[in-house]
Amino acid sequence: MLEILKQIPFFAELSEDDLKAISEMVQMQYFGPDQVVFEQGDYGEEMYVIKRGKVQVLRDDKMIAELAEPSFFGEMALVSEEPRNATVKAMEETETLMLKKEDFRELIQTKPSIASAVSYEVVKRANQIY
Ligand code: CMP
Repeated sequence: MLEILKQIPFFAELSEDDLKAISEMVQMQYFGPDQVVFEQGDYGEEMYVIKRGKVQVLRDDKMIAELAEPSFFGEMALVSEEPRNATVKAMEETETLMLKKEDFRELIQTKPSIASAVSYEVVKRANQIY
């Protein structure tokens, strides 16, 4: 897992020790073509970093974005405590690293490089919503 984390830009600026700690937190999750990761309106308990593959982001059944590695998704509900604002569905075989809410929140509170990557995307994505 450590070797996998080292190749993922989301974790790029972290030390070896940090990566070791994170490797205890993350779980690999695989999704097949058309498999739904979660639905708009669901309660959010985890976020996902795409290691390989591609997902669709759908709001009210309309596609609003496609995300591929090295992007991530599912962060907004964890930051805002709002329900999932879109459905996410795999478009092809997709491998992700999943982080639970408490671990994700700890990371954004303690790792500035992660906090800045997440806040940049949250602001950009939120601007596309409203
Ligand atoms: P969350 O609200 O937890 O669940 C749906 C996810 O879709 C959201 O987090 C973001 O990760 C992602 N998302 C929402 N809007 C956009 C957008 N405009 N562009 C890319 N991804 C988005």
